[in-house]
Amino acid sequence: MSVVGAQPFIKPMQALPSVSPGIQRRHTLPASEFRPLNTQDAISVFEIEREAFISVSGDCPLHLDEVRHFLTLCPELSMGWIEEGRLVAFIIGSLWDQDRLTTDALTLHKPRGSTVHIHILAVHRTFRQQGKGPILLWRYLQYLRCLPRVRRAVLMCEDALVPFYRKSGFKVLGRCAITVGSLTFTEMLYPVSGHAYMRRNSEAIRFPNHPLTLPLTKTDEHDGV
Ligand SMILES: CC(C)(COP(=O)(O)OP(=O)(O)OC[C@H]1O[C@@H](n2cnc3c(N)ncnc32)[C@H](O)[C@@H]1OP(=O)(O)O)[C@@H](O)C(=O)NCCC(=O)NCCS
Repeated sequence: MSVVGAQPFIKPMQALPSVSPGIQRRHTLPASEFRPLNTQDAISVFEIEREAFISVSGDCPLHLDEVRHFLTLCPELSMGWIEEGRLVAFIIGSLWDQDRLTTDALTLHKPRGSTVHIHILAVHRTFRQQGKGPILLWRYLQYLRCLPRVRRAVLMCEDALVPFYRKSGFKVLGRCAITVGSLTFTEMLYPVSGHAYMRRNSEAIRFPNHPLTLPLTKTDEHDGV
């Protein structure tokens, strides 16, 4: 099955509960949900990026057109954390087909690759330092285990973030071949093994069909990683 074909986020059609004609249905936004992003989310994504990166270093990992590009080509490799209708954190990934990252990986999606290149993880400024980044990353990595083709996830990060990613189970691969101006990066790897659909009673099995409305606890965070 192709990664695209897997579409584990998409819920099977369910019969709607019958509603008496006279009864108005309440339209309330879920308190918290995780879902794949689409091109309509691109502006919200970029607003978070702009604050997180452009205001700090003058540039950002993905420009708006690149955000749209990846959300068009491989939306199933993105994940957004939405609270009351507002994007509070996100991950954007694409597929890559080599052992190590090269500059091509910054712009290309290789549908036959078995490596997910995590381009960016960012949390809205207002919601940082609340554990959301690690929780979203954990959910994303669990989700990847549901995609049969995926064997590993890689990313490049500034050295200061190496401990952050180590805590989520990433290992250092070494210095990344990609540089941006004078910036250098560490390349990190997460082995995506033991596909979740093989495991009974797994959170990763339940998640795609039943997006939880409550964030996981810190204890859940490192379970199974
Ligand atoms: C990095 C980021 C995703 C962390 O998410 P978060 O929800 O704020 O994370 P938390 O505050 O729960 O911190 C988790 C851990 O990461 C560390 N951490 C957070 N931001 C960090 C940073 N910029 N540099 C180094 N360590 C950082 C925290 O100290 C904490 O460590 P601890 O577990 O030892 O206490 C978030 O700060 C962010 O979006 N930053 C801007 C974008 C960015 O730099 N993204 C990563 C590169 S793509």
